[in-house]
Amino acid sequence: MSVLQRVFDAPSRLTVLDPLAARAKETADRVLPGGRVRGWLHGRPAGHPLHPAAAMLPVGTSVSALLLDAAAVVLPGGRALGAPARGLTAVSVAAAGPTAAMGWADYTGLHEDQQRTALVHAAGNAVAVALWSLSLVGGRRAPLLRTAGTLAAGAAGALGGHLAYRWAAGPNHAEHLPHLAELAPADADGSTDLGSLDELPEGVPTQRWVGDAPVCLLRRGARVHGLVDTCSHLGGPLHDGEVRDVDGRTALVCPWHGTAFSLTDGEVLDGPGTAPQPVVAVRVRGGRVLGRVEGPPKP
Ligand code: FES
Repeated sequence: MSVLQRVFDAPSRLTVLDPLAARAKETADRVLPGGRVRGWLHGRPAGHPLHPAAAMLPVGTSVSALLLDAAAVVLPGGRALGAPARGLTAVSVAAAGPTAAMGWADYTGLHEDQQRTALVHAAGNAVAVALWSLSLVGGRRAPLLRTAGTLAAGAAGALGGHLAYRWAAGPNHAEHLPHLAELAPADADGSTDLGSLDELPEGVPTQRWVGDAPVCLLRRGARVHGLVDTCSHLGGPLHDGEVRDVDGRTALVCPWHGTAFSLTDGEVLDGPGTAPQPVVAVRVRGGRVLGRVEGPPKP
């Protein structure tokens, strides 16, 4: 493993942070709004987390200020660039609050090892905002403070990227499953035999397999609903979850972090998840349950 990877991985092993991580989660659950607003903070309407996109504003403005400060050093009359650099830094500070709220909301639905990395990421950003804020009243030291803040934000941002890509916090964890299901033996309609209806327990989420793709079936009388079994949020097993009414719609609730998916179309109705859950189109014919995992449209 490279030195850089060890450095980026190190925060995930800092178990000493766990009490603080638990406190931060409790506080977020108490302080942040719930319901639809919380869904917006997670990025539910977009189908993916909004925090990384929101971070572009403070990052973009702070890097722009950094470039202005650099230009001020080399250009004649560069002092005049101090005012716009200061204005850009004020935007960075103002944008940091909403960006942090989105990240904090996402933080509540992470595993402990991910939360440790997220805490270090947040601490780096807090240092950055403190330095940017000081620069606004920093007089002649302002360029130095702005630069130090932007370097801290850059390091924190790199760790955030590691959290998202190396530690998979944020991406859709069910995207590959329709592709795996395509490899299963299927009839002319593309459906796979998932067993007899009589063997499916009534009202109890039950796991079956379409080839190598796990699916979760729920029988309600003669009808059967199905979703891919691996939760799109962080891969939890939906067949271990519970069926609940959410805003008048029947939902399957993931046992890991409580994301609730509509049983009929996989839409996220509640919880930290953002990507819709792939649906299994289920038919019952001759007492047999036939399922087809719905994937992206074919060309
Ligand atoms: S894995 Fe997090 S809600 Fe399902």
